Amino acid sequence: MSNRNWIPVRGAEGEHSRQAHADMPAGTYEREMSKEGFFGPAAFFHHRRPPTGWSHFEGPLRPRAFDLAALNAAPESPWAAPMILHNAHLQIRFWRLAGPMPALARNGDGDQLLFVHQGAGDLFCDFGHLVFAAGDYLYLPRGTMWRLAPEATAAILMIECVGGHYTLPDKGMLGPTAVFDPAMLDIPAMDAAFREHQEAAGEHRVEIKKRGQVSVVTYPYNPLDAVGWHGDLAAARINVSALRPVVSHRYHLPPSVHTTFVGERFVVCTFAPRPFETDPGALKVPFFHNNDDYDEVIFYHAGDFFSRDDIKPGMLTFHPSGFTHGPQPGAVEAAIRALDEGRGTTDETAVMIDTFRPLLLAPASRHAEDPEYPWSWARAARG
Ligand SMILES: [Fe+2]
Repeated sequence: MSNRNWIPVRGAEGEHSRQAHADMPAGTYEREMSKEGFFGPAAFFHHRRPPTGWSHFEGPLRPRAFDLAALNAAPESPWAAPMILHNAHLQIRFWRLAGPMPALARNGDGDQLLFVHQGAGDLFCDFGHLVFAAGDYLYLPRGTMWRLAPEATAAILMIECVGGHYTLPDKGMLGPTAVFDPAMLDIPAMDAAFREHQEAAGEHRVEIKKRGQVSVVTYPYNPLDAVGWHGDLAAARINVSALRPVVSHRYHLPPSVHTTFVGERFVVCTFAPRPFETDPGALKVPFFHNNDDYDEVIFYHAGDFFSRDDIKPGMLTFHPSGFTHGPQPGAVEAAIRALDEGRGTTDETAVMIDTFRPLLLAPASRHAEDPEYPWSWARAARG
């Protein structure tokens, strides 16, 4: 990522720490400005006041929050699920599915990642049968025919890698089995439930999305009728409970260590419960930063979101690049209080999507937006 011939400047002025994110001058707020996420050249400023202490925030650039639970549409087809944010490489939809899909789906545009926020049930696809439950990621390679049959209403964050492929991150010196061992990926089985599903009589429709348009192919039988398969491409499932987050007791690691899947020009990261830093000089909450190269999206799945005051499960925040963001006032104190009270771990599970290209807001997202969100930092400061 960062093996470029960067402009060779290095400096230090005034009061500053030597180690980033640790031993900051007393009473200061650290802000990071960096290239290529957290991997290129960076500067660390020590501010006297929080970089998020704005009193007005005007114009089109703004932090946004959406309560996706407020989107009531429950279409039977994933291709009718409301789009929230998108660009040429990525489409984020939120899909409430009230019962078994009447038709099969097939994505001709790209790989699909489904994050199950709520609900449980069965996934039937070309490769066989998998059960799913809340907290599962379901990976569906481009071209897979699939159908979900939830037991009750399911709520799913759909993350489509348009025109591209999902891969796993390079875990570098951590080694390939860190964070999660690829052996923890479950693949479908051609079991009794799958064979029973194959026997469903009547016509079967396959709704194929290609170039954003849906075509329907109808068969007089169930086309999920393979009797076997072999190869090194398959749908897969992994639950967030299988993740083993990388932490350091002495250093607040950047969110990139939580990268779970890599798309084309974007990454999907997972914040799973993890211990706070215990070193007295180490930062205990995310640092303020501009992140000028990436738009940032976080979907809050479960738990208590320690760096945010007013966020509930089912909400999604969108921090476009271009302004400084960071924890809300009180988050540092809350982390220290949690440590003092013997609660040494975060209790949050969230999906983060960082995109290199700017994201556009889709119309449905407007219905779910909290227009007061840019002022939530100020609200938290007033307590
Ligand atoms: Fe960020």
